[in-house]
Amino acid sequence: MDLRGICVLSVILVVALSTLAEAKFPPTKCQCKSVPTERKNCGHPGITAEQCRRAGCCFNASVPGVPWCFSPKEKRVKKVCPSDVRARINCGFPGITAQQCQRLGCCFVPHPAGVPWCFYHRQVEEAC
Ligand SMILES: *[C@@H]1O[C@H](CO)[C@@H](O)[C@H](O)[C@H]1NC(C)=O
Repeated sequence: MDLRGICVLSVILVVALSTLAEAKFPPTKCQCKSVPTERKNCGHPGITAEQCRRAGCCFNASVPGVPWCFSPKEKRVKKVCPSDVRARINCGFPGITAQQCQRLGCCFVPHPAGVPWCFYHRQVEEAC
């Protein structure tokens, strides 16, 4: 096999792997909550719930006449500063000021001792 063949094969492999990786993150309930008439079809007619979910789509067969397998909505996330001190992931350095931390775009809570005061946000899904 020549070099080009190997290149083409690796591209196919990477695409296949990333598709697999995506399927590991099924849409959340929130992403699948939508007005039935606004559903965007995601699978072929007669697709099973299992096949649909494996394709990363939402399945809901409770309303006739609309797609049962449909595309999830975009996940809406918001940034929050974790309140659990053990969940803090250091974003700065010891002695960092509130201003310096703010410039890094991180959370600043100057207590308690022994944990980072400047720490990263966490992304949580917004309520739907
Ligand atoms: C299916 O869709 C209907 C109509 O939008 C909704 O009321 C119901 O809660 C959905 N079921 C599930 C399991 O999401």
